[in-house]
Amino acid sequence: MSTVGERVRVELDARSYDILIGEGLLETAGVAIQAVRPVRRAFVVSDTTVAAAHLPRLESGLKKAGIASETFLQAPGEGTKDFRHLGVLLDRILERRPERGDILVALGGGVVGDMTGVAAALLLRGVDFVQCPTTLLAQVDSSVGGKTGVNTRHGKNLIGAFHQPRLVLCDLAALATLPQRELMAGYAEVVKYGLIDEPEFFAWCEANAAPMLAGDMAARAHAVAVSCRAKARIVAADERENGVRALLNLGHTFGHALEAETGFGPELLHGEAVAIGMRMAFDLSVRLGLCPSADAIRVRRHFDAVGLPAGLPGQRRWRAEDLVAHMHHDKKVRDGKVTFILARGIGRSFVATGIDIGRVQEMLADEAAA
Ligand code: NAD
Ligand code: GLY
Repeated sequence: MSTVGERVRVELDARSYDILIGEGLLETAGVAIQAVRPVRRAFVVSDTTVAAAHLPRLESGLKKAGIASETFLQAPGEGTKDFRHLGVLLDRILERRPERGDILVALGGGVVGDMTGVAAALLLRGVDFVQCPTTLLAQVDSSVGGKTGVNTRHGKNLIGAFHQPRLVLCDLAALATLPQRELMAGYAEVVKYGLIDEPEFFAWCEANAAPMLAGDMAARAHAVAVSCRAKARIVAADERENGVRALLNLGHTFGHALEAETGFGPELLHGEAVAIGMRMAFDLSVRLGLCPSADAIRVRRHFDAVGLPAGLPGQRRWRAEDLVAHMHHDKKVRDGKVTFILARGIGRSFVATGIDIGRVQEMLADEAAA
């Protein structure tokens, strides 16, 4: 049974699209795609783990609506999100003589989604693509907003394009097979929307995170819908990140430094790093006299209650100067200055430039020693 619980519109003039949120949406994917525009052939990109659990539902959903499909599988994990694998994927699709009317479909987490998006942006100078996100992180963040990309040896996501999908299908049923740790990492991006500018949603998270994470479908539907509405609103206001979209990077300046420190590998997942980074952003805001300490304590309490990490795995300590050095390599550095998203309180985040990096290093050193 397929149920669309919610439809969220991303308003971008001619590039506007819907995000459908509900259970069993892969089974009716073909009908949903044909409602956007007629399609005869789809190239599905997925990873082997996701495909084993969910590809048959998508294939049958496409077939029922008269869409022929071919699938291209990659190994799971960040290691495939690079130029070499992108080239192989494009080459394999080109062997099938694609036409502009064909579409690409991403079935998977953020890795598959980012990679499929950049492939769609480049293939035949741009073809349409559909996101079928299967991790919580991808449903609430990476599948929406059109940022696509691959990693290089110089850093993450440094090559890519803004290329919006034509449709996003958030099938909540897909989350049933997601490992708990991945679910938690995605939850960090959910709670982020409350911390940015929706304090009432943060309060909802405090009250409802436990049942949501345990599998309560109504709570999951609500969390994904609120998150997608928030992201859609921010992307519609600032598609290319010249302003308000930067708020989506709350926790990311610290988080990316921690990910760089742990090699962007499975030791620390992106969402886990962002969770630690959001604690740090609130702590720094308190230190700089910008935010009441009660709000930072509330953030900490909630993260501890749900089990989001407070530090590196295995009691490992960071060196403050190493994290600061990583920050200077961030994409968001402007004229050598690191940009931070700080907060005047829960739901009152803002872009902060010109922060004294010495104060940041001091805080990181204190937290490492604590
Ligand atoms: P991922 O795509 O690597 O998926 C995590 C793991 O979960 C993989 O091993 C995958 O095989 C498995 N998996 C996925 N769905 C599953 C399911 N339903 N059941 C069982 N296993 C499943 O990781 P992710 O956290 O989804 O995405 C991280 C990526 O997203 C990073 O590359 C990051 O840069 C990118 N990202 C992009 C944006 C954006 O705006 N484009 C935003 C945030 C993150
Ligand atoms: N995940 C950050 C953004 O989409 O802008």
